Amino acid sequence: MQTIIKNGTIVNSYGRRRADVLVEGDMIAAIGNEIYAPDAAVIDAAGCYIMPGFIDTHTHFDLDTGTALTADNFDTGSKAAILGGTTCILDFATQERDGSLQAALDEWHRKAAGSSCNYGFHMAIARWDDGVAAEMEEMSRQGVTSYKMYMVYDALKVDDGQIYAALKKAKEHGALIGIHCENWEVLQRKIAELKAEGITEPCGHPLSRPAEVEAEAVNRYMRIAQLAEAPAYIVHLSSAQGLAEAERARERGQEVYLETCPQYLLLTDERYKDPDGAKFVMSPPLRKAEDNEALWNGLRDDKLDAIGTDHCSFTMAQKAMGAGDFSKIPNGGAGVQHRGQLLYTYGVCEGRITLEQMVKYLSEGAAKLFGMRDHGEIAPGKAADIVIWDPLYKGRITDTEHAHNCDNSVYAGFDVQGRARDVILNGVHVVKDGELVQSGCGKYISRGRYESIR
Ligand code: URP
Ligand code: ZN
Repeated sequence: MQTIIKNGTIVNSYGRRRADVLVEGDMIAAIGNEIYAPDAAVIDAAGCYIMPGFIDTHTHFDLDTGTALTADNFDTGSKAAILGGTTCILDFATQERDGSLQAALDEWHRKAAGSSCNYGFHMAIARWDDGVAAEMEEMSRQGVTSYKMYMVYDALKVDDGQIYAALKKAKEHGALIGIHCENWEVLQRKIAELKAEGITEPCGHPLSRPAEVEAEAVNRYMRIAQLAEAPAYIVHLSSAQGLAEAERARERGQEVYLETCPQYLLLTDERYKDPDGAKFVMSPPLRKAEDNEALWNGLRDDKLDAIGTDHCSFTMAQKAMGAGDFSKIPNGGAGVQHRGQLLYTYGVCEGRITLEQMVKYLSEGAAKLFGMRDHGEIAPGKAADIVIWDPLYKGRITDTEHAHNCDNSVYAGFDVQGRARDVILNGVHVVKDGELVQSGCGKYISRGRYESIR
């Protein structure tokens, strides 16, 4: 089966050119202006950009937090993802405290079967011991070459020594460890202080976890990684202070990679005063306009490496579990469908980043860091995961008009420009004119060693 994409402009992280793209099977076979393929199906991409399929570095589908089950599972979440141009998600297979990594991986494979976008797994390590350390080799063999460890949450938190040991072991396997950086003990004290003052509403959430709570944890992680002589990845970086700590580590010569999310670029903690403030409760919390700006500047100056959504959706009924106690509101928001549109509208159209940087942050950076050698680029021999981006489309995000399985969006009211008009997944034309025409075409992406890109 051949498909030719004609008349579009190919955009990679390193530049753009007008050329046609020939897809054969699930690979890109050729790029050029005079490709002869008389039997190929033709997609006219006039006026559109042809970009490598977006990779979301951070999703939580079908996650039971202990108090709530995320509204999106792999079925609904992957449909929303592919409609937004995300051809691959990296979801967090999450180890049970008393379980093995293998059990978590098996469980996540079961959950993800039938996905409408491709998927890989980071492994979230909830317990570190010699048995878990020994499992890392097998995880690599099965294509899991990145991990997350949490400094927070009772069911997931690990200690500094465990992070140190895991960093050393991961380095042996060419794997990367991402850390959720917040100081749990301090923020717990702050929650207690706020409640004692009678502050129980969502506005207590950012007060309990100010930027210093993140920056202290980033600094600690950076020093632990320095001691372990290992590369370090920080997930969902949210603050200017956190960024400054990471930059300090780089100035010392450390290899540090940074992920942020659209919510930390576009939303501020003013939203916790809204009547639906619970919707915005996520961790780390939304910050100040100065933090948004520092992260945009970081993107402009190539200080960051990837943008994930941290898609972790809950309905407003679930969010209401925390009525009268902000610390009981399920943490997280929906966003997997809108990452491309938000970055295009508020990044590219507003002149904060280039179109090439958009490709780097949405696709190429993740592909390189997370060992996806066939992805992140429109080039012969690469996977035929392709987004045909219509830059002229205009729309508005609302609480309900999206494919997420929940009744709210933290971006409701945002005007957006551009959309994934068509999407090719594994060589199959799955999204046509903004409609999902073939579901369930996703496959597992077994990943290799991380690539050092700094
Ligand atoms: O609030 C959030 N971010 N929930 C998802 C879990 C995490 O910390 O990434
Ligand atoms: Zn996290």
